[in-house]
Amino acid sequence: MPSYQPWVVLLVAFIGNCSGWLFCFNRINSTGLARRHTKRIEKIFVACCFSLPSLVLIIDWDSIQRWMLAAQWWPNQTILFSPWAISSFVCLAVLGPSWIQSRCGLRGSPNLLSETMVTHHVGNQLPAGSAGDRLTKLLDSIPFNEISRLEVNHKQLRLLRHLPAAEGFKICHISDLHFTGQLNIDHYQFVVDRVLEFEADLIAITGDIIDYARCLPWLEPVLGRLQARYGCLFLLGNHDRRLSDVDEPARILSQLGHVDTGKRDVLIHTPTMRISVSGNERPWLERHDCAGQSNLAGVSQDTTRAFPELRLGLSHSPDQLPWARGLALDLLLAGHTHGGQVRFPLIGPIVAPSRYGSRFASGVFARAPTLMHVSRGIAGTHPLRWRCLPEVSLLTLHS
Ligand SMILES: [Fe+2]
Repeated sequence: MPSYQPWVVLLVAFIGNCSGWLFCFNRINSTGLARRHTKRIEKIFVACCFSLPSLVLIIDWDSIQRWMLAAQWWPNQTILFSPWAISSFVCLAVLGPSWIQSRCGLRGSPNLLSETMVTHHVGNQLPAGSAGDRLTKLLDSIPFNEISRLEVNHKQLRLLRHLPAAEGFKICHISDLHFTGQLNIDHYQFVVDRVLEFEADLIAITGDIIDYARCLPWLEPVLGRLQARYGCLFLLGNHDRRLSDVDEPARILSQLGHVDTGKRDVLIHTPTMRISVSGNERPWLERHDCAGQSNLAGVSQDTTRAFPELRLGLSHSPDQLPWARGLALDLLLAGHTHGGQVRFPLIGPIVAPSRYGSRFASGVFARAPTLMHVSRGIAGTHPLRWRCLPEVSLLTLHS
């Protein structure tokens, strides 16, 4: 009669095996490697994750069969099982505690004072739906797939620094639009309509705007409509790098009057304060005039004492949080991780292209002196989402 011990050992070893390869999968996507290399390495990691346990079972099948019938915690006379299982247990012991700790961070930050949200089923509200091609239409029809939905949320954020001049300032944060053609232009016009309803003081787009050159003609009719009192800021992400001329979308958006913070830091003056905005497109792009350093450093030091200043950062990846803290930014806006795209009950997201894994998949995170908001984004190249609604956010700042 089969005993329970082998099943427990095999299950724990398999979880440890998956955690190790998942760790590698998430980190390779946070490097600045070219997409073709990243995708190849990704496939190797996925293949190893499933082929190694299969190989162990095939090679040691006779010993494992005998073990399943014996009330023992470990099999005898195996070749591959012991090194594989021990290395899997080590992975679990090393990675498990920090992963469990990261789940606590996903519950929410006390600096998110309140949040209200409205969910739209965009695909149902548009006459021709949201899907731009047959595959997306098919995937959109899968129950619980949320790709053609949109959460419009309003978050009240308390800054980590006392800055009364920023009280009530409203920033609309959008990210990861991924103009691919999978979602049609009407879907994006719907998103822009919701953004304009916010009547934000400032709009910030944190990268991954366009994947394919065939969608360049969408930039003007969609993003050209974005207007806010103090302008619309943007920078590029790793997917924008897929275009043969990566500067082209930036050029078009600049011609539309939007501010390219991937190229240069800027100062914005309001009646009560000034806002210094720093952009960071690393590790994928280095378009910045000052090689990632702020060209405003001297200006800030001269006059911050005389005039209150909100220090705002834009980055495609949340991995630039240490950079933001180094510059003592008050608020960092990021995207890239899409909230994990699939969020399991209780454990949340597990796949996120970040050096921190899924720790900063989406939400509000306080790491003094910086408060970071990571958007789940609007779309992605894989048209599948589960329990991870696309979002546009209005952030109202409080001191
Ligand atoms: Fe993205």
